[in-house]
Amino acid sequence: MKIIRTVKELKEAVNALKAEGKSVGLVPTMGALHDGHISLVERARSGNDAVVVSVFVNPTQFNNPDDLRTYPRTEEADCRRLDEAGVDIAFIPTVEEMYPEPDTRQFDLGAVAAVMEGAMRPGHFNGVAQVVSRLFAMVNPDRAYFGEKDFQQIAVIRRMVELEKFPIEIVSCPIKRESDGLALSSRNVRLSAHQREVAPNIHRVLKESVGRKLAGASLEEVKHWVIDSINAYPEMEVEYYEIVNAADMQPVAEWGDCSEPVGCITVYLGDVRLIDNIKY
Ligand code: PAJ
Repeated sequence: MKIIRTVKELKEAVNALKAEGKSVGLVPTMGALHDGHISLVERARSGNDAVVVSVFVNPTQFNNPDDLRTYPRTEEADCRRLDEAGVDIAFIPTVEEMYPEPDTRQFDLGAVAAVMEGAMRPGHFNGVAQVVSRLFAMVNPDRAYFGEKDFQQIAVIRRMVELEKFPIEIVSCPIKRESDGLALSSRNVRLSAHQREVAPNIHRVLKESVGRKLAGASLEEVKHWVIDSINAYPEMEVEYYEIVNAADMQPVAEWGDCSEPVGCITVYLGDVRLIDNIKY
C-alpha cells in the first residue's frame, strides 16, 4: 500500500492506475478506522480494480471545536488495517494540503440538508460537500462508497454530485454493528464502561419499534414511543428522532405517505453524540 500525503503524488498515482485500465473505488474517511469503515473498503475492493482510501479529519465540517479537538486520531493503526484490507493508496493529507486557501464555497444542497443533522449542525453538510467534492476532483473515481450509518449524508453527497455533475457512482453500504447491536462508530471509544453498556438500547428500541409498526401503531405513536423509551434511561437523551422519506429526507406524517420510511436518531450519552437509523 502506498501512503500518499500530497495532492500532486495522489494524482500521479491514480493516473498511473487508470493508464493501466484499472477502475478506481474511493472510500472517504476521517480515520479512527473500525470494521464499519473496513466493510466499505471490502465493498470497494470487490467492485473495482484499485481502491483509494482517504483519511482526513475535515475541520470545515465540525461546527463544534471540542468535537474536532477530541476526534480520535490513530494513523498508525489505520494504515495497518488499510494495508491488511488490500488498499492500494491511503491518502493522508494535512489541512494545509487539503485547503491551501480557505474554501468559501456554499453548496445549494437544498431540502435534503435542511433537516435533522443539517438543522442541528449548521454548516456541517456544506463542509462535507466541500471536502468530498475536493476528493472527487482529485481522484475522479469510478465509484465512491458511503455508509448508511450516516443516512442523510448519502443524500447530501448525491445532491452535491448532481450539482457538480461528477460522473461518479455513489454506492451506499449497510450499517455494521457490534454483536450487541450498537452501530460501530469512532466515537464509541469515548463512552464510559457504563455508557457502553446502555448504548445498545438505541438499536434495541429502534428494532422493537418496527414490530410496533407491524402491530398497527401509527407513525406518531411509534415516534413518541421511541423517544420516550430511550429517554427513560437516565444516561441517554434523544436530540431528535425523525421518520423521513428515504427518497428526499423529508419528515413524513403517516406511514402511507412514503414507500421507504427511515427513522433517524441522535442520542447524547454524556457529551458523546451517537447517531443511528432504522428502515421501516
Ligand atoms: P467517517 O465518520 O470516518 O465515516 C467514513 C464512512 O464510513 C462514512 O461513509 C460512514 O457512513 C461510514 N461508516 C461509519 N460507521 C459505519 C458503520 N458502523 N457501518 C457502515 N459504515 C459506517 O463520514 C465521514 O467520515 C465524513 O463525513 C466524510 C464522508 C469522510 C467526509 O469528511
